[in-house]
Amino acid sequence: VKTAILISGRGSNMVALVEAAQLETFPAEIVGVISNRPGAAGLEKAQALKVPTAVVDHKNYKTREAFEHALHEQLLSMEAELVCCAGFMRILTPWFVSNWQDRLINIHPSLLPKYKGLNTHQRAIDAGDSETGCSVHWVTEDLDAGAVILQDSVTISPNDTADLLAARLLPIELSLYPKALSKVAKQIQSRV
Ligand code: GRF
Repeated sequence: VKTAILISGRGSNMVALVEAAQLETFPAEIVGVISNRPGAAGLEKAQALKVPTAVVDHKNYKTREAFEHALHEQLLSMEAELVCCAGFMRILTPWFVSNWQDRLINIHPSLLPKYKGLNTHQRAIDAGDSETGCSVHWVTEDLDAGAVILQDSVTISPNDTADLLAARLLPIELSLYPKALSKVAKQIQSRV
């Protein structure tokens, strides 16, 4: 399944997906990485891994719709059949989401349906939760509200900070996302 990855920054989840997909038996092939930020560190990492990259800078478009049309065209030119958001920090409109329905997934750093949106770790700490985690989920019109594909958790200890939790969760994200992509790619293969 031809898969594109959308990033905005560091791109460590993107690297994990690319590396997993390099295995011959993996059911997805990464056809490109698109960033909405020209300076995203992930772009160089993708280039080092010999993956085609593109920048669709949202600042060059007057409206969210115009930006998304350009993003959509870029995905079509890469022949993407599936899209993974990996630290992609733009909210997508119903137009974009419906065009990629059942072909668009995201990783979110909480145990959804808890803590949609930003500052998830601080919110989990403030709530006194004993654990938090990450979720790979289908992207739907409502932010972070689509069905969960896979989830994994970490324990919150009394001295935890949001930064410590994020650092401890990252390797769990990096192992979860490729598993979820594999699962979804197999589902898509069996659709036809
Ligand atoms: C990850 O923690 C992801 O869950 C969140 O943003 C971070 C992206 O990190 N949505 P990276 O760009 O993959 O390194």
